Amino acid sequence: MMIYLNGVFMPVEEAKISVLDRGFIFGDGVYEVIPVYSRKAFRIEEHLRRLQHSLDGIRLANPHGNAEWAELVGQLIERNAGEDQSLYLHITRGVARRDHAFPNPPVAPTVFMMSNPLITPSAELLRSGIACVTAPDNRWLRCDLKSIALLPNVLLRQMAVDAGCAETVLIRSDPVAGGEFMTEGAASNIFAVKNGTLLAPPKDNFVLPGITYDVVLELAAANGIPHEVRRVMKEEVFAADELLLTSSTKEVLAITQLDGKPVGNGKPGAMFARLYALYQDFKRDVMRG
Ligand code: PDD
Repeated sequence: MMIYLNGVFMPVEEAKISVLDRGFIFGDGVYEVIPVYSRKAFRIEEHLRRLQHSLDGIRLANPHGNAEWAELVGQLIERNAGEDQSLYLHITRGVARRDHAFPNPPVAPTVFMMSNPLITPSAELLRSGIACVTAPDNRWLRCDLKSIALLPNVLLRQMAVDAGCAETVLIRSDPVAGGEFMTEGAASNIFAVKNGTLLAPPKDNFVLPGITYDVVLELAAANGIPHEVRRVMKEEVFAADELLLTSSTKEVLAITQLDGKPVGNGKPGAMFARLYALYQDFKRDVMRG
């Protein structure tokens, strides 16, 4: 695997960073995951826009303009095998003596990129759907930032794995926002479906603004699929006809079991079938064009 670290492409075994890197010490950095299909980065402008949002959110200057990022991403794809790849971009506040406050004067950020094979869900998983558990969303209030500090997400995902499930659906209870509502998955966005309407939690500070989420809502709008962007309350999650999961690596998946009970009739539903097919067509068109 060829990686990129601070201006140099090299085999992953040769890459070294300082133990004083603020990413290592504080989790002080942000990241992106960009899917690559047929050696082309999917929705790169949108991913770079979200990266800028995350960098602005942690007050870290973007080390590259979008043209430079696109060039680096292109080179990373070229230097790695595989038609479909999952690119990981990671920027930290750099190496400095340990002190919570930002280094003053600022130091050079650490810029790291790697490519892994993109393994999309198997035909069997698409047919069966996945089982999920629910858990209280105990993360911070800036879930819109793609922070590398993922300990809460790690612990929440492990709860699913410990229960033999694929993902944890997060429920936030917030007296100010009102009641108990679904936010997202530990590493995915979640939609509900009721009476033929797709229900999408709003892109506020409680969720990561998913690139796949946006594609799904665009496809719903373009194809006359009824959809509402609004809070989805906990009771609605358990009474949903269907639940769908989206992410750059999982694309669109049906959740067919929640906390050990079937979702709807326990099989991937009509909304899943429609959106999955539309997503695959869209992908094919974008990659051809
Ligand atoms: N995770 N919400 C969270 C908390 C996520 O970590 C992710 C993606 C998403 C979906 O966003 P997108 O559609 O842009 O991938 C939502 C990536 C894949 C990861 O951390 O590996």
